[in-house]
Amino acid sequence: MIVLSHLQASQILAAHKNGQSVVKVSLDLNLTENEVRLQPEAVLFPTGESLDWASLAEISDNEIACYTVEDHAAKAIKGFSEFSGRVYGLMPTASAPTMLISGIPMHRIKDTNPHRDTLNKIKAIAPLRGDVLDTTTGLGYTAIEAAKTARRVVTIEIDPMAQEIARLNPWSQALFEDPKITQVIGDAFEEIEKFEAESFSAILHDPPMFSLAGDLYSRAFYQQAFRVLKHNGKMFHYIGDPESKSGARVTAGVIRRLQEAGFKRMRRAPRAFGVVAHKE
Ligand SMILES: C[S@@+](CC[C@H](N)C(=O)[O-])C[C@H]1O[C@@H](n2cnc3c(N)ncnc32)[C@H](O)[C@@H]1O
Repeated sequence: MIVLSHLQASQILAAHKNGQSVVKVSLDLNLTENEVRLQPEAVLFPTGESLDWASLAEISDNEIACYTVEDHAAKAIKGFSEFSGRVYGLMPTASAPTMLISGIPMHRIKDTNPHRDTLNKIKAIAPLRGDVLDTTTGLGYTAIEAAKTARRVVTIEIDPMAQEIARLNPWSQALFEDPKITQVIGDAFEEIEKFEAESFSAILHDPPMFSLAGDLYSRAFYQQAFRVLKHNGKMFHYIGDPESKSGARVTAGVIRRLQEAGFKRMRRAPRAFGVVAHKE
């Protein structure tokens, strides 16, 4: 799989302008680098694929899309979700890409990047051992990171289009390859009821913003989270910027409802924009 963004396309175009015949560039959105050959008509990739210069220029002009290269043509990684009625796309950063849903990035990208954002979430409840529930898969970054130390990770995604985008993202491949990760397509609010009590030692809860997924911030959901957690288990709950007016308001409500659901020792995790709650 070759995936390019404006960052790599610009790099290739600059090398071509410089008169170079070869340039080292990432073909998997910054994970590794490969040599590509710059020919008069097109760029030649190590896999035998090629792309003409007009297509490269088109990619370099679009800062919010990533493209696969297949059959000597570039195709933007995006799709319309029948489920939500929204357009999903993969947006590059200098690190891992994020997913845009109707133009809204799924991870933090201001003053940070999706990879660092993920590491902060995991750090907030590390060490992760035993069986972990990741309530909303997205691009699978939290699930993939959790699976590095956990025994097993179950991750739930409501929208099949999100899974399709993840399938084309080089940074999400472990989601489909790591045998420790089990993917469930469904509504976390309903799926969580199907797990036996005390099934998980930790929960990663990284829902969309409150206004888009209120039921994932409800006392009923937290009661289920409490039920499926083992004693001494913990949950990280992403909320949003605690310094913002809405973030502060939502955080206060979340902490109150977590308490009502039985959670103890609520700890704010400001670097991860969330809170950690414990089941004693
Ligand atoms: C903030 S993203 C999760 C990011 C993810 N933790 C990662 O590391 O890439 C939220 C995801 O939750 C999904 N979602 C929204 N409502 C859901 C629900 N009720 N059950 C499961 N997934 C849901 C959205 O489609 C979106 O992909």
